[in-house]
Amino acid sequence: MPKKTSVIGLGYLGVTQAAVLASLGHEVTGVDTDKTKIDLLRQGKVPFYEPGLEDLLNNAIGSGRLRFCDTISELPKEIDLHFLCVGTPAKDSGAEVDTSYLREAMNSLATVIAENATIVGRSTVPVGTADELEAQLSALTSKKFDLIWNPEFLSEGTAIRNSLDPERIVIGSNSARAEAILRDTYREIIARDVPVISLDRRTSELVKIASNAFLALKISYINGVAEIAEKTGASTAQLADAMGLDSRIGRKFLNNGLGFGGGCLPKDLAGFAKFAEEKGSSAFYQMLQSASIINEDRQNKVIEFAKELLGDLAGRKITVLGASFKKNTDDVRNSPGLSLAKTLVGHGAAVVVHNPIPISVKMPTEMAFNFSLDLDEAVLGSSLVIFASDWDSYKKISPEDFTQRVQEKNIIDARSIIQAKEWKSFGWKIRILGESQEAQANG
Ligand code: UDX
Repeated sequence: MPKKTSVIGLGYLGVTQAAVLASLGHEVTGVDTDKTKIDLLRQGKVPFYEPGLEDLLNNAIGSGRLRFCDTISELPKEIDLHFLCVGTPAKDSGAEVDTSYLREAMNSLATVIAENATIVGRSTVPVGTADELEAQLSALTSKKFDLIWNPEFLSEGTAIRNSLDPERIVIGSNSARAEAILRDTYREIIARDVPVISLDRRTSELVKIASNAFLALKISYINGVAEIAEKTGASTAQLADAMGLDSRIGRKFLNNGLGFGGGCLPKDLAGFAKFAEEKGSSAFYQMLQSASIINEDRQNKVIEFAKELLGDLAGRKITVLGASFKKNTDDVRNSPGLSLAKTLVGHGAAVVVHNPIPISVKMPTEMAFNFSLDLDEAVLGSSLVIFASDWDSYKKISPEDFTQRVQEKNIIDARSIIQAKEWKSFGWKIRILGESQEAQANG
């Protein structure tokens, strides 16, 4: 049965959730306190880049099933299903999560909540958050309600596919009634043979953070292997292909390179490590911490390669390809490319960062490098080009595109995306993360 729902918080998760729910036939009101964002969304414009989302949003608005408002107190009173999609960013310490937006949402919900409402948390939260929010809201209202957790597993760039055709739906619940409502809301998705895992709330909160920390460990594992490969005459890319054929290991998230960034993996890894430390699991804490250290170390390896190729970096023009933390997103949170650019600036280099699409948020002001959307301009007169991100358009660049424009023909491929042999035939010197000099010479 179509439901009347709200989606509270309209970031990557919330806009996708709102448009997807409307596409499933539900009547959705999206709410966010950022009035500029609401104005854009009302015009059918997505305030960030996510492939396919603008079409889905416009179809939803056109169908009359998706509306927006800028305060929770304006939500229609008959809504009895609320999805919490507000951000839970890292606090300045990096390891602590700021759940204040969730608590603010509870304060506001208390003023409009219907009798027997169901609240579904989707944000990534520390374990125990659902219990705390439930206690908070209970103290503010005499209405009966259920609060369950349904962690999101959306990856930026593939958010719609991950929503409509997820690998699993996790429901953390202490209420059979609320779980049945949520299952009915997702009926069309579940009918596609998607496994639904019913858990208690605390386990469901942990599933998300433990999954993301595991993905981070997997990437750091292959980046650790890359350090060994670089020193032993081996090729990490070939190793990963061979390892990945073991279905117990799997090839996904085994791409070595500049490491993981984004709004989730670094934050969840740090948060989980802190949690492990607090609970006295010191060996596990160290394991998680090591993954962070390996992730940062890869940046140092690029600097080492850069010095090998250029000697002193001061005054040299260096082009970093890729400001987004990965392809198909304009998100620059914890971007490995930007972090590298900053380090290169620290070494006195004149750095230009290129991205194939504009960045919708303001670039941090302390970043003393130039930003360009024009590839030709970005490499003009450069002494070193660094492939820092895996955009498909970068894979299509041929040596002819760059050879006449640069000052010196040096490349560091930090994402294993170029055809090294072809570039070498044009006289380029190449360093590839995870590949020894011998492997590079053979490659
Ligand atoms: C992640 C989780 O994948 C998703 O399930 C969760 O809901 C949100 O967090 P996302 O942050 O969009 O998604 O990015 P993801 O695709 O996981 O990539 C994270 C980082 O790891 C990127 O910087 C990417 O370049 C890097 N990465 C990924 C590698 O370095 N190697 C790999 O093999 C895979």
